Amino acid sequence: MSSSLSLFLLATISALLYVEAGRVGECRTTCIERNVQRIVRVHLRDNYVMVGACNNATDAQRAGGILAGEAPFKSIVTPYICNKKIGVWTIDELDEEGISKFPVRCPPVDQVSQERIDSCPK
Ligand SMILES: *[C@@H]1O[C@H](CO)[C@@H](O)[C@H](O)[C@H]1NC(C)=O
Repeated sequence: MSSSLSLFLLATISALLYVEAGRVGECRTTCIERNVQRIVRVHLRDNYVMVGACNNATDAQRAGGILAGEAPFKSIVTPYICNKKIGVWTIDELDEEGISKFPVRCPPVDQVSQERIDSCPK
């Protein structure tokens, strides 16, 4: 097996495990989703976890898109990054895709207790 293929498989398996377990190192999915947005992609690189968090577009945002002549969109995905040793999520300004719009709505968020959200690293 080529090393790039095995690396790809490893990254895919890690991403799946991550979603199952809900955390990598100190980075917890709950702490970015916070019952309001949903992670739709995950990348792992060195000490960092990079995700895209999906928000359903509001009516106002959709109307703005139509005025601007953009294709209609139903959701907006914002890139976030988290250091595995620290666990604090911040917007990933360096992400190549940036903030992107999609024509489908986000999947539902897994609801968790407020205590679990309150226990997130700050
Ligand atoms: C987005 O909208 C869909 C359909 O209304 C809903 O089921 C889902 O929970 C919403 N997801 C988020 C992240 O708000």
